[in-house]
Amino acid sequence: MAEATLDLRNVPRAEAYRTLEAQLESVLAGIDDPIAAMATMSALLHHGFGHLWTGFYRVVAPGRLLCVGPYQGTLGCLEIEFGKGVCGTAAARRETVIVPDVRAFAGHITCDPRSRSEIVVPVFGRVRELVAVLDIDSDQPAAFSAEDQRGLEGLMRWFRRR
Ligand code: SME
Repeated sequence: MAEATLDLRNVPRAEAYRTLEAQLESVLAGIDDPIAAMATMSALLHHGFGHLWTGFYRVVAPGRLLCVGPYQGTLGCLEIEFGKGVCGTAAARRETVIVPDVRAFAGHITCDPRSRSEIVVPVFGRVRELVAVLDIDSDQPAAFSAEDQRGLEGLMRWFRRR
């Protein structure tokens, strides 16, 4: 594998996501294992943007429970119920949730006290079933925008094609 982890911190976000999308197509060519894809995406997103925590919570009981999947960062909590925290809220609503200030989000689950803002993006499978959520935390306030939402939702379409 000739691909390296890119540093995208100084690249405009829309361009950074286009670059990542192309890199993922290349790195994941011939792979249809969702866990391998989650691990690869976590690594590229985490190190590409310098996030605090980047990873997936998988649906292990539809409508009820998420369990941690591949991630990069410090120890994450292992299970999150639908409706709880930012991840559980995004899972229950089946839509992206952007939290500019985690201290202002009632019920935020604090795994790392340095976390200031986050974005959680739903991951859908082939028949629009929710298979996971992507959770990204930052130590900067208001680190995520509609551009991140667009870019990340685009990357997550990988799982609908499998
Ligand atoms: N921030 C999440 C909890 C998971 S950890 O921070 C990795 C939430 O409130 O859903």
